[in-house]
Amino acid sequence: MGRKFNFGAGPATMPLSVLEEVQNEMLDWKGLGLSVMEISHRSDEFQEIAREAEADFRDLLNIPDTYGVLFMHGGATLHNSMVPLNLSNAEGNADYVHSGHWAARSIKEAKRYTNVNIAASSEDKKFTFFPDQDNWNLSENSNYVHITPNETIGGLCLKELKTCSVPVVADYSSGILSEPINIDNFSMIYGGAQKNIGPAGLGFAIIKKDLLNKAQEITPTMLNYSTMLEGESMYNTPPTFAWYVAGKVFKWLKAIGGVQAMGEINNRKAKKLYSFIDESNFYSNNIQEPNRSIMNIPFLLGDENLNKQFLEESKEAGLLALKGHRSVGGMRASIYNAMPEEGIDALIEFMAEFSNKKA
Ligand SMILES: Cc1ncc(COP(=O)(O)O)c(C=O)c1O
Repeated sequence: MGRKFNFGAGPATMPLSVLEEVQNEMLDWKGLGLSVMEISHRSDEFQEIAREAEADFRDLLNIPDTYGVLFMHGGATLHNSMVPLNLSNAEGNADYVHSGHWAARSIKEAKRYTNVNIAASSEDKKFTFFPDQDNWNLSENSNYVHITPNETIGGLCLKELKTCSVPVVADYSSGILSEPINIDNFSMIYGGAQKNIGPAGLGFAIIKKDLLNKAQEITPTMLNYSTMLEGESMYNTPPTFAWYVAGKVFKWLKAIGGVQAMGEINNRKAKKLYSFIDESNFYSNNIQEPNRSIMNIPFLLGDENLNKQFLEESKEAGLLALKGHRSVGGMRASIYNAMPEEGIDALIEFMAEFSNKKA
């Protein structure tokens, strides 16, 4: 059976060459006579994997030494508690930009540990745009402003972060490594790996070192960024296999030409799909043009009674996981780095045929 095109939002499609490498090395990694998942995280061999993965990740995003990098358990969601616990406190203020489902999750959790101010929101416009940075209403003595630059469910994004008067913390789960970013404008970036980095079970964090050592007294040891950084993400046993695969994805991305080249490919892929949707009179996407995500593209069919049939027939055509999130409805094509351009072409061809039959 051949591989299909997986448009799932995460765990998401992986580069085929990475999967093949992992398959080839599964039983005997580097002649050690065992799988990489069977070796100690403290061994020289695994330490080398960890060092190389971090170096490649830093290289891809131009992360200077003034930032620490973590690869750890807990996905993105754990940081919803870690961020306020480490960077603010019960008396302190933190700003949050409300851009949709995932921002709402972060806001809800932060309220348990600090005073939350909603600096901007597009809720009253059903999250059809990302609140303009010029209109963020930041609170006095704010410890940080939290953003979700790519809302995976709503399909909207912040195209470019400008400099900001307070530290910016970003949940970049679904946008990381998809195109170049100016790291200097962020004080912290975190996310889950299962979209553009590797298997679920791994999360990443990039954090400016001058934000460390201010954690609240109640912060559990495992949720303290300083402890995790001092332990080089190995305070306890890390998710070694996922980390190893992530390292291979970083090498794959570097071989393509890094995030600059990837960004050009991703913009081309997204443009193709948006143009098709905009030109059709059967499909629609209502996110305002400058804020359309290049990673997650939700779209509605002209007749929602056809959703079930669309999903059945697309699955038969080898196009998987196109169902949109229930809060948005319709369909969603997640087209992360590892989705080849042929996948976009196949999807457009199917969508054209489907709509022609129904017109
Ligand atoms: C933007 C964003 N934040 C957070 C999450 C939750 O991630 P995790 O399951 O790794 O905690 C997701 C998952 O899809 C996401 O897309």
